[in-house]
Amino acid sequence: MYQNILSVVSTKGGVGKTTLTANLGAYLADQGYKVLLIDADVQPSLSSYFAINDVAEFGLQQLISNSTVTPEMVASKIEDNLDIVISDDPNGELQNWVKNTPDGRVRLRGILRQRFNNYNFILIDTQGAVGPLQEATVIAADKLISPVVPDKLSATEFLHNTTNMLNRLAESASWLGVEIAPLYALLNRVENTSVSKHYSEQIQQMGFEKVCRVPVHLCQTTIPRATVWNDAVAQQMPAHRIEKTSSRKTGSALEIIASLVEETNILGDRHV
Ligand SMILES: Nc1ncnc2c1ncn2[C@@H]1O[C@H](COP(=O)(O)OP(=O)(O)OP(=O)(O)O)[C@@H](O)[C@H]1O
Ligand SMILES: [Mg+2]
Repeated sequence: MYQNILSVVSTKGGVGKTTLTANLGAYLADQGYKVLLIDADVQPSLSSYFAINDVAEFGLQQLISNSTVTPEMVASKIEDNLDIVISDDPNGELQNWVKNTPDGRVRLRGILRQRFNNYNFILIDTQGAVGPLQEATVIAADKLISPVVPDKLSATEFLHNTTNMLNRLAESASWLGVEIAPLYALLNRVENTSVSKHYSEQIQQMGFEKVCRVPVHLCQTTIPRATVWNDAVAQQMPAHRIEKTSSRKTGSALEIIASLVEETNILGDRHV
């Protein structure tokens, strides 16, 4: 079965990773694909984004560290096509496990590919900080998506630290016999202000091929700052179901997510 693992990463906190993971995952599930969300953040925001109907016995800790884990053990049910592995590591102990286990950084990649291939899409939400667990999720991915807010702090962080993190991992990955996936940078919380335009342009004009060993594509699709993304989390309802049409120039939540899916080619040639 066609399986695609997407990790939503950033070395900066608060840029929209959880929002994107939840809404993109729910959109793909509504398209008929079988989707697994994984909350790999110690602060379990994704775990409570949607209501869970059937809670599995275990969560992230067993997924990462139990070599005999099965989907039944860790996949909690949100809806028919949408499952989630919840974060159950409030003290961040998994970071040490990943760091101290010889195959720590590649285990998740192997487990997901071998045991979780009944899912078409696996979307991993990560913590906005560099660390062994974040590295394991980057190594596991077929595609990386990185939201970037066009303001000074977020743009600078992306241009320096996220690309550094990728370069460092690309070096190690080549020795591990794996390739780091291409990264799609997605401007999020874009505003109609001169500051927002300035930093959007700065990112657009960046020659990534000169500074990054991993292919970086800047998405044409951008996500505006809009209340629908806050409504989604408040109502525990995917944004594309709340906002199918909009008079906003930037399009509705449904149109934005559909355009992102198209542009990143995450469906490949497959259809349900
Ligand atoms: N396009 C947007 N417009 C308006 N608000 C947004 C948008 N994207 C995200 N937000 C809001 O910004 C806040 C941070 O988003 P989110 O939690 O998704 O970021 P994060 O990268 O996962 O943060 P953390 O690093 O803390 O996990 C949330 O309140 C979310 O509702
Ligand atoms: Mg988050």
